[in-house]
Amino acid sequence: MFDEVSPRYDLINDVLTVGNDRLWRIATTKAVGPRKGMRILDLAAGTGTSSAALAAHGANVVAADFSEGMLAEGRKRHADNALIEFVHADATALPFEDNSFDAATISYGLRNVSDPRAALAEMRRVVKPGGRVVIAEFSTPPSAVIRGPYAFYGRHVLPRIAGAINREAAAAYQYLNESIEEWPDQEALAGWLREAGFERVAYRNLTFGIVALHRGFVPREAPAAPKPAAAKKPAAKKPAAKKPAAAKKPAAAKKPAAASTAKQSEAKKPAAKKPAAKTSPAAKSAPATKPTSAKTEASGGEQ
Ligand SMILES: C[S@@+](CC[C@H](N)C(=O)[O-])C[C@H]1O[C@@H](n2cnc3c(N)ncnc32)[C@H](O)[C@@H]1O
Repeated sequence: MFDEVSPRYDLINDVLTVGNDRLWRIATTKAVGPRKGMRILDLAAGTGTSSAALAAHGANVVAADFSEGMLAEGRKRHADNALIEFVHADATALPFEDNSFDAATISYGLRNVSDPRAALAEMRRVVKPGGRVVIAEFSTPPSAVIRGPYAFYGRHVLPRIAGAINREAAAAYQYLNESIEEWPDQEALAGWLREAGFERVAYRNLTFGIVALHRGFVPREAPAAPKPAAAKKPAAKKPAAKKPAAAKKPAAAKKPAAASTAKQSEAKKPAAKKPAAKTSPAAKSAPATKPTSAKTEASGGEQ
């Protein structure tokens, strides 16, 4: 399905989101924080539009996707960009070493992956301790005033417009809408991130929550436990000659400082709606409400 829509994929997104997809990409790039010399995994990269935004800041980007059609289109478009490498990869079984990326991101792809929690676990595995993951995904507008018209647009308008641009795309975009409706809301996805072992998980709503940006960090190595010898030392002290030892609290009563491990998945369980893309991956792209406004609104987290 992705192979079929790949040639006009970005055009369809621009039309359906009335340009909001560009603003969402800017926010996503900012959340990833690409810098020269960083190695960043852009998962489900499609034609590489999101990868190019990261590479524009000097980062080396591995654009990974399992659709040969998307990869071929991406290689063609970004042939002269030495910072982007297109790699065929399944998000649930990545062909990369542990701790081999400074950051990982996935834009409008996680919902399409057959096992999104496996993809999160893989992202955590390949990102170095201290590195971040950023997920841009369609989500649930918290306000009912937005949810109603948005649902109407997704069910009735979006597949028709997409079909007018590219006939094959109509079915893909119908799937898109269904997958968005079934996708977990912001809190549930944040719970999945915590379950996968990310810490400092937070999210931010964009365009009234039509899209949400989630982020989490791979915990840094747990600090080494204090050396037991250090804890015993005071006990070895000889009591001062004048005072009876009994008057002093025995040093042994002191608790050795427990090795404090990084707080990881204190995960609230997600109030799991079912994940969307149970089996067949299909198109994403951008839905759109009326282009409400270019303004992004913050809620529920720092980013
Ligand atoms: C809607 S596109 C997103 C493309 C791009 N990230 C963007 O922002 O425009 C979703 C992509 O997810 C890819 N995809 C779906 N399941 C995947 C999987 N298990 N592994 C790798 N890529 C996958 C599809 O091939 C498709 O290119």
